Amino acid sequence: MTVNQLANCSAETTYLLFIHGYPLDSTMWENQLQSLPPEVRPLAIDLAGFGRNSSNDGANFQPGQTACSMASYAEECAQFLNHHKIFDPVVICGLSMGGYVALEFWKRYPNRVKAMILCDTRAAADTVEGVALRKSIADRALREGTEVVVKPMLDKLLCETSRVHKPLVVQRLFETMMKVPSTTIHAAQNAMADRADFTARLSEIRVPSLLIVGEKDAISTPEEMRSMADKIPHSQLVVIPDAGHLPPIENAIVFNAEIVRFLSKVI
Ligand code: MLT
Repeated sequence: MTVNQLANCSAETTYLLFIHGYPLDSTMWENQLQSLPPEVRPLAIDLAGFGRNSSNDGANFQPGQTACSMASYAEECAQFLNHHKIFDPVVICGLSMGGYVALEFWKRYPNRVKAMILCDTRAAADTVEGVALRKSIADRALREGTEVVVKPMLDKLLCETSRVHKPLVVQRLFETMMKVPSTTIHAAQNAMADRADFTARLSEIRVPSLLIVGEKDAISTPEEMRSMADKIPHSQLVVIPDAGHLPPIENAIVFNAEIVRFLSKVI
């Protein structure tokens, strides 16, 4: 949506900010953009170095430097909304890394959040081993290029049904991930490795929250998300069948029905 189109939205319009996961970009939300009620206006951000924001990032990130953080990503979201002249509270929807960013955005700007949709994400920080793994992936991507992270990631993102029966989805994801500069992989992995543990703050979330997880998600498991939902006062958890880590792509029909149902209650 252009800034001019946004300016024409009525006072009843609710904005829905989508934040992508790693190593994806705003195009992961394509199946959602046309499926929302007319009073909901979607915007999908590309975080630094991803998608539309990938063309000029190369010079900004140096080996060994943590150029991004959950804080800087959350600030990008605030700037993005400011740019579109959206100052009223929005519904924020983040998947995985996008969920980490959504939580950080809520922490910094609680008054700008009307409701949250947290998909296939976690509140806990990484373990010591997890941090070490991320740092080695980050360095390897810089040395050897994006391709080294793409294949193993592709296997983890999708459930077996999607991998076997949805070749076009596999192909699209592969292409999206291959476009991510290795400098962006490096920055994002370091940002995720350094993120704070959010678990103790979940009970402070007062806005209605929908937690969504693919039933076969091996990265952010249904058990982990159930434990998050148990700690967020006004939350509900929905498990999406036939989906791994990417329900908005793997089972968009059910995913969309769930977010539309949730939105009808909160807008
Ligand atoms: C994502 O999908 O954003 C990543 O799996 C997040 C992560 O690596 O923790």
